[in-house]
Amino acid sequence: MEQGPVSLRVANTEESGPAHARVLVVEDQPAIARTVAQALTRIGHQCQVADTVHQAKLSLSNDSFDIVITDVHLPDGSGLELVRLVKDHTPDVQVLVMTAYADVKIAIDALRLEADDYLLKPFDLGDLTHGVQRALTHRWLILENRQYREHLEARVVEQARRIERLYLASTRSLVEALEARDPHTRGHSDRVTKYSVAVGQALAEIDLDQLTTGAQLHDIGKIGTREHVLNKPGPLTNEERDHIRQHPMMGVRILSPIVNVPAILGIVRNHHERWDGAGYPDHLAGSAIPLLARIVAVADALDAITSSRAYRPPRRWNEAIDEIQRGSGSQFDPDIVAVAGPVLRQPLDVTR
Ligand SMILES: [Fe+2]
Repeated sequence: MEQGPVSLRVANTEESGPAHARVLVVEDQPAIARTVAQALTRIGHQCQVADTVHQAKLSLSNDSFDIVITDVHLPDGSGLELVRLVKDHTPDVQVLVMTAYADVKIAIDALRLEADDYLLKPFDLGDLTHGVQRALTHRWLILENRQYREHLEARVVEQARRIERLYLASTRSLVEALEARDPHTRGHSDRVTKYSVAVGQALAEIDLDQLTTGAQLHDIGKIGTREHVLNKPGPLTNEERDHIRQHPMMGVRILSPIVNVPAILGIVRNHHERWDGAGYPDHLAGSAIPLLARIVAVADALDAITSSRAYRPPRRWNEAIDEIQRGSGSQFDPDIVAVAGPVLRQPLDVTR
């Protein structure tokens, strides 16, 4: 019995999703294929018909569909093969399987293969349109759910970035507060960042954002260093030296609750390691020292030598470069010194 035109709406309202679908009808009996396609076309869907598994596969590879309605017994194979194919590659495409009453077991097999519904032959057009409507609603809910989830994930990522930016801004204030405690180190982090980035630009595959952030924050742990140790004009006692050497780990403790970028934490933790393994806190040697930390180590030393200290005046730029070159292979990574030498031959303008 054929029904008149049916206004197919999904789940009652237009807000519930698209009412029109692209449908692939896989059926080898021309009369059934034609009836199904005509009925669905009449209510606004776009239909393609395939009469074999092979033809259906061609259609699926050339076009995209919202719904596949397939017979099970096809001349060159089983419609269940198509169920598996569609669900493996495009799981949100809805698949309806047409089976005879005698093939209830096949219908169950189809559902096990994640077919979304089945139509028991002979079905009337009411069954067909209801089946298609359910499939469309299901598909729309899947797509909406996915979109919601992706949107939510994007929001979570964006929020995490905002929190990280806010945290980095506040740590930046901490760096300024730290440097304000010692007039001899004012601007140290900015200069170390500038020298590090200049060297980093001359090396291959350096993440300059990570290098910049790590260089800015490398001494953040000194916020926990006692002030009289930080500003002591004379030589440090062993206890004072041990105390000041805790600043890399203190920096990691300050940053690790929010900064989860290993390269940034590696700079903070390992910028006082030496190429020969005699540094601290982990006594790493050679390429075991994180690359960005090796760059910052050179930049840090350059700024320390060329800045005044409570116990000595600044030394000239050329002398500092010479001293760093003397430390190549013992204190510093020779490859980085080889790059830093030419890049930093002239003092960089650190006012910008
Ligand atoms: Fe340091």
